[in-house]
Amino acid sequence: MNTGELKMSWARQYMPVLGEIRKRFEADKPLSDTKIAMALHVEAKTAVLVETLAAGGAEVYITGCNPLSTQDDVAQALNSVNGVHCFAKRACSVEEYYGGIDKVLDANPTVTIDDGMDLIHRLHTERRELLDNITGGCEETTTGIHRLRSMAADGKLEFPVIAVNDTPMKRCFDNVHGTGESALSAVMITTNTLIGGKWFVVAGYGYCGRGLAKMAHGLGAKVIVTEIDPRRALEAHMDGYHVMTMDEAAKTGDIFVTTTGNTSIITGRHFPLMKDGAILSNAGHFNVEIDIPWLEANKEGFEQRDGIDTYVIKGKKISVLAEGRLVNLAVPKGMGHPVEVMDLSFALQALCSEYIKNEGQKLSGGVYEVPNEIDITVASLKLSSLDVSIDKLTEYQEKYMTSWDIGT
Ligand code: NAI
Repeated sequence: MNTGELKMSWARQYMPVLGEIRKRFEADKPLSDTKIAMALHVEAKTAVLVETLAAGGAEVYITGCNPLSTQDDVAQALNSVNGVHCFAKRACSVEEYYGGIDKVLDANPTVTIDDGMDLIHRLHTERRELLDNITGGCEETTTGIHRLRSMAADGKLEFPVIAVNDTPMKRCFDNVHGTGESALSAVMITTNTLIGGKWFVVAGYGYCGRGLAKMAHGLGAKVIVTEIDPRRALEAHMDGYHVMTMDEAAKTGDIFVTTTGNTSIITGRHFPLMKDGAILSNAGHFNVEIDIPWLEANKEGFEQRDGIDTYVIKGKKISVLAEGRLVNLAVPKGMGHPVEVMDLSFALQALCSEYIKNEGQKLSGGVYEVPNEIDITVASLKLSSLDVSIDKLTEYQEKYMTSWDIGT
């Protein structure tokens, strides 16, 4: 086995839910006659999803969804799976990145799977001639869903897309536990610095931010949260964290991680306020949360290490990890989310691909929720793989829960 195949076989053994789905897919071939175009982080867990879709009879065309997150050995291994064509390449230029998306679309797909919506954007702009052939799509992440909802609100989204990100079995596990553990371990493995006792700034207390805050707190960090939503700020306060503006946090923080999915969170106003040795990283989808162009334009000195760019600003060293791209995947040793978490997210993707293939023709353009049965199926498969049993509602309890005239 080459290293890509070894990584895939390691991931596969911790993905029992996808394994169960694969058995059914292999037997029933529910995705035959389906051409799936994908733009996802091409690493081992994604590869297990790809081979599951191929086992279900799909022809799969895949490229990356971020110039720094592809693992080339996995991309190579994928190209030897029957029915799979992979065009992803690590550290590609912007032209190569969109070239990969075009190659995937050249296959004239019927179903799309996106992480960030770049594929669907391309389809609705430069590649509109392919739209008629698309039955529907699935979107993996918060930022992609924001973009899709804006498109739908403008009446521009021409086929149905399932918001995989928004379902409980995705965002309560992937965004919270996945991003929490993997972003923190990426910071630790890249910098070799201690978390305990540090001021650890989390920008955005959404699903990703709260996972990260909890993990950092667990390692002994003093956690600061910045927010723009008063409800989430209050939640962070009552969860025991220090809530303040980024203007204040900039002066105090030792380590910063942005998780807002928004732009311009740490900017030219903040860098000069920071401590010497401050470490900055981003776990949001796009590299727009930290203003790197400002650092480039105003640096007095610069040092580059593996995954760390250090800028000298007003005589102080400020280090940015992975060029401000999503840190858990883009640092050199970034492995992305833990395998078990992606088992859940990708089980949803596999079942939603099957759903959109079967039902997409009946739906009009727009963003759709993951069907509840799919969400529950994934949770049940996971519990059964853990050999965990839960109670069932009795008939009387069911009646009680659905009744409006039972009082004291
Ligand atoms: P979310 O919508 O639950 O949370 C974002 C939070 O940021 C919200 O509470 C919002 O009020 C806050 N926010 C927005 N603008 C802000 C500002 N200027 N200052 C401070 N806070 C601000 O979204 P979620 O699910 O936590 O995702 C966040 C980002 O992480 C998205 O870009 C998503 O695509 C990405 N993501 C990254 C993953 C990874 O592997 N690194 C995994 C999953 C999601």
